[in-house]
Amino acid sequence: MTGTRLMFSVPLLLLFGPVTALAGNVLVIPGEYSHWLNMRVILEELVNRNHSVTVLVCSASPSIKYTEAEPFRFKVFDVPFNATEVHSISEQMIHFWMYEAANASILHLALKFMDVLGRMHTLQIQMCDAIFQDEELLNMLRQSKYELVLADPMMPCSDLLSEKLGTPLDMEEFVQSSGDDGIVVLSLGSMIKNLTTERGNIIASALGQIPQKVIWRYSGEKPENLAPNIRLYDWIPQNDLLGHPKTKAFITHGGTNGIYEAIYHGIPMVGIPLFADQPENMIHMKVKGAAVILDFNNFQSKDLVDGLDTVINDPSYKENAMRLSRIHHDQPMKPLDRAVFWIEFVMRNKGAKHLRVQAHNLTWYQYHSLDVFAALLATAALVTLIFFKTCRFCLRKCCLRSKTKSKND
Ligand SMILES: *[C@@H]1O[C@H](CO)[C@@H](O)[C@H](O)[C@H]1NC(C)=O
Ligand SMILES: *[C@@H]1O[C@H](CO)[C@@H](O)[C@H](O)[C@H]1NC(C)=O
Ligand SMILES: *[C@@H]1O[C@H](CO)[C@@H](O)[C@H](O)[C@H]1NC(C)=O
Ligand SMILES: *[C@@H]1O[C@H](CO)[C@@H](O)[C@H](O)[C@H]1NC(C)=O
Ligand SMILES: *[C@@H]1O[C@H](CO)[C@@H](O)[C@H](O)[C@H]1NC(C)=O
Repeated sequence: MTGTRLMFSVPLLLLFGPVTALAGNVLVIPGEYSHWLNMRVILEELVNRNHSVTVLVCSASPSIKYTEAEPFRFKVFDVPFNATEVHSISEQMIHFWMYEAANASILHLALKFMDVLGRMHTLQIQMCDAIFQDEELLNMLRQSKYELVLADPMMPCSDLLSEKLGTPLDMEEFVQSSGDDGIVVLSLGSMIKNLTTERGNIIASALGQIPQKVIWRYSGEKPENLAPNIRLYDWIPQNDLLGHPKTKAFITHGGTNGIYEAIYHGIPMVGIPLFADQPENMIHMKVKGAAVILDFNNFQSKDLVDGLDTVINDPSYKENAMRLSRIHHDQPMKPLDRAVFWIEFVMRNKGAKHLRVQAHNLTWYQYHSLDVFAALLATAALVTLIFFKTCRFCLRKCCLRSKTKSKND
């Protein structure tokens, strides 16, 4: 039993730990100057976490050095102006602010600001035109199948671009369109890319009957008769969706990451456990009153509809999930800080020998419990010996007595 667990837990950690947070494909529309410096830090971290990051930058960027090697990719598009022109607008603005603004009249100030903003706006419009009139660029961006557009709010047409490319800004609109009914998030984990057609159709048919909108992370064959309240995505920002105020329930396979995210945000669950530790994880959630469980191979559409109805409309499920969430939040320090603390603790204390498992100090015969085995064997032998000796002693007594008896007779 222990052996199986150990063997499971190592690959599970590897697979469920990083993988769910991984392999996103991100398109970045950066700002300039300090905005870019800040965003660059985030991009480096995203690359460290194995996301693929592409920065869409115009050829006239005054502060982004797109010809230099970076851990992320640049996609440069041409604009009908150059970096010197862009930079000179900022320079004039700064010069005016530093040396002339103090003595200028309100009217002068207002006119100057309008002039600068107007010139920036003209350049930005030209930039947007350059993107949207370049069919080749748009096709290339579409084919790259970005899952998210990370845009600096300074850049005006990033919303429009992400809508054209069909990325999560779209998802937010879909979520908002759910009204008071809210949304249901469905993911069976990073390892399950597809289901059998039969199971897929059962799930799709159930989801088509509920009033909520559904965001389903699924990359298998598209189920037939997919109702308009359901959207399929290859990848979803799961933690963000679970934290969204419109999210009512989470349909999950019961992997530890998903469960912790749901607990953190206080979202009741419908569990469809598939393998390994998932059934056990879901039972914990069910016992705590925050989930119902369905049997993957046997549930029918009605069971899923009923399960969702229960966790969404019976207030006890939400209350229990919120109670777990409060307990989960109530910690002396953040889990990331705790992990870092213990790693540094071991380094500070030269390997923290006092915390080492004493199994390392056992001799080979202790490690294999041969000493215990020998002691047990000796005890058993002793008991057996005593038993036989006693029997022999008793028998002898009896025989002796009967012999004397017969002699006397
Ligand atoms: C990123 O991928 C590399 C190579 O595949 C791997 O060694 C590394 O652990 C991954 N990093 C994270 C944070 O998952
Ligand atoms: C930028 O454009 C301006 C005006 O079109 C031109 O005078 C200038 O030489 C250009 N600068 C560079 C570096 O190309
Ligand atoms: C503003 O005007 C005052 C008086 O007219 C002058 O002494 C001062 O040097 C001016 N300041 C700047 C920054 O030009
Ligand atoms: C899922 O897809 C893989 C590869 O396309 C295929 O080998 C597998 O049989 C599919 N699984 C199911 C349950 O359809
Ligand atoms: C355990 O073994 C290590 C080296 O193998 C030794 O330094 C340490 O003192 C031992 N600890 C105990 C409690 O015997």
